[in-house]
Amino acid sequence: MDSSEQRIKIAVQKTGRLTDHSLDLLERCGLKFTKSKDQLFCYGENMPVDLLLVRDDDIPGLVGDDVCDLGIVGLNIVEEKRQELQHEGRDAMFKQVFELDFGHCRLSLAAPVGTPYEGLESLNNQKIATSYVGILRNYLKKNDVTAEIEYFSGAVEIAPKLGKAQFICDLVSTGSTLDANGLAELEVLLESEAIVIQTLAPLGDDKQALVDRILQRLDGVLQVRESKYIMLHAPRSALAEISELLPGSEVPTVIPLDDINDKVAIHAVCRENVFWETLENLKAAGASSLLVLPVEKMLA
Ligand code: PRP
Ligand code: ZN
Repeated sequence: MDSSEQRIKIAVQKTGRLTDHSLDLLERCGLKFTKSKDQLFCYGENMPVDLLLVRDDDIPGLVGDDVCDLGIVGLNIVEEKRQELQHEGRDAMFKQVFELDFGHCRLSLAAPVGTPYEGLESLNNQKIATSYVGILRNYLKKNDVTAEIEYFSGAVEIAPKLGKAQFICDLVSTGSTLDANGLAELEVLLESEAIVIQTLAPLGDDKQALVDRILQRLDGVLQVRESKYIMLHAPRSALAEISELLPGSEVPTVIPLDDINDKVAIHAVCRENVFWETLENLKAAGASSLLVLPVEKMLA
């Protein structure tokens, strides 16, 4: 048996807005990596799961071509790859498995402050600079706009100053890059966040089992982020009302406390944040000794 065949690879952005969050997420899944000198390849120390640190733009391709089994990347990059493939009449060989709720940004149209703009028709016969040719092309087509797309691999925001385009289509996160370049945001084409993609290539049973295990841990990590464990005491008669008030909880555990007053302890996992208002409402419904605890790990 070739042991290298049993290992899986996860593609992660080498340097950029997703890197720290991505590595942190994998660490919380219990994965430990040895960083090599060039830091392109990180060997998985405690599980047969290795990391490939690469340019974010390369991640969908690496996962689609089955070089990596999983990838953490922005939806913007994934969507661009999908639309480019579609344009070439090909299908994407990866699928989206999780949204990660970090790396939020949007792909927007912008122009120098003061540029006349009265809606999308103002784009007709204009030049738009972008790295997102696939998404922009489809967007213009869908909106019946005929504009010229100028491909820029980076530094799109300087295109108007260089006289290369009147408009740009680029990622906006905080908006400070637009501000710094005297650009105003006009339209949002896509809302993006970090996602996990998985290859569609068939994996052997062992690799598939390993991928499933990692995905299950990821699911657990994502679920506990918002989850709280709540404990309280209440008269049994208040049980129904209290169960209703517990935010996003499944059937709570009810433990009898004292038979005379018919008091019970109620324990529940709430899959949403628990706010002070909720606690106050629970108290008003008869609850006492309320305790809210963070959840560290969860396995469904
Ligand atoms: C994007 C985009 C802008 C900047 C916007 O680049 O090209 O330059 O972020 O962010 P802001 O609104 O917070 O200023 P990114 O850092 O994602 O690099 P890349 O596109 O080269 O991968
Ligand atoms: Zn990039």
